[in-house]
Amino acid sequence: MKAIVWTKYGGPEVLKYGVFEKPTPKSGEVLIKIHASSVTAGDCRLRAFKVPLGFWLPTRLVFGLVKPRKAISGMDLSGVVESTGSEVTLFEKGDEVYGTTGIRLGANAEYICLPESAALVKKPGNISHEQAAATIFGGLAAIYFLRDRACLHRGQKFLINGASGAVGTASIQLANYLGAEVTAVCSTSSIELVRSLGATKVIDYTKEECTKNRETYDVILDAVGNLSLSKCKQSLTMRGKLILINAGLWTNLSSVAKSNLVCGVAGESKEALIFLRERIEASDIRGIVDRVYSLERTAEAHRYVDGGHKKGNVVIAINDSQKLN
Ligand SMILES: NC(=O)c1ccc[n+]([C@@H]2O[C@H](COP(=O)([O-])OP(=O)(O)OC[C@H]3O[C@@H](n4cnc5c(N)ncnc54)[C@H](OP(=O)(O)O)[C@@H]3O)[C@@H](O)[C@H]2O)c1
Repeated sequence: MKAIVWTKYGGPEVLKYGVFEKPTPKSGEVLIKIHASSVTAGDCRLRAFKVPLGFWLPTRLVFGLVKPRKAISGMDLSGVVESTGSEVTLFEKGDEVYGTTGIRLGANAEYICLPESAALVKKPGNISHEQAAATIFGGLAAIYFLRDRACLHRGQKFLINGASGAVGTASIQLANYLGAEVTAVCSTSSIELVRSLGATKVIDYTKEECTKNRETYDVILDAVGNLSLSKCKQSLTMRGKLILINAGLWTNLSSVAKSNLVCGVAGESKEALIFLRERIEASDIRGIVDRVYSLERTAEAHRYVDGGHKKGNVVIAINDSQKLN
């Protein structure tokens, strides 16, 4: 099978298109023919090994101290179950599935074997594999940080910085579903997009600083990592939550009270993927696809995502896909 291999950390050039043996599922595993994968800001961070301060060693211990432990890159995928191991009960041949490999990696490939217990569920029925792959990274982050950690709810005011990225576009839609009023921070070219996703107020960061207008919010999510903590503190309500998804260990020393801070790494679970599927099937959330690349052009996709200006998501189409950049 064709796959993207990497043998060292570094720039996009470390990603090579190669041929691997097609895997065979063990008794508790499913073999998935992957139709679409993605290249996320997380994939690029891992490839270049740009991790928040204080996380270098723990992350290297997980992914490989000197070089990547897993040969094939990529986390998110959408595809079809081709065969199942003898003990598999949750899936059968022909099931359309979507999910994430997490630290196992290996999604930038034509095939993958995953345990049936992995963060893998039936795919939303109303969208393509490309669109499904485009919902996972931002969707799981939004669910974890907004629904589970900040407990965002009806009537609350929510500010999202980095509103046009993968996390931002999913967060606007989830916050809307949860009944919050959304203020989106983006550049001029994304104003129409964020409004179409449900932002009622928009702040163009090229013209105005989002924490300077004396507004207060119940929840602020900084998906860019450039907001001043002291200014955020002034823009939070008394019990408001500041979500820092790029936080290093230094944030513990900040002036924002621990009870107001939400940091950490988004979890992945079947429950969250099912919740996301339900939101997609009810048309509450849609994955925004910026560009689609073929598998052999994955390094180019990384180069584009590295630029930091994608709108929504970048998808890798594998096998029979048509819409390529
Ligand atoms: N902790 C976790 O579990 C977790 C989970 C998911 C993601 N993350 C991290 O969260 C970050 C965001 O992820 P992502 O996938 O959303 O990234 P992304 O899709 O690459 O974000 C790109 C977007 O950011 C916007 N942007 C750039 N500079 C901006 C600024 N100064 N103000 C407002 N918007 C700006 C860009 O808009 P313009 O082009 O218009 O500037 C672009 O649309 C990444 O660093 C990722 O690693 C962490």
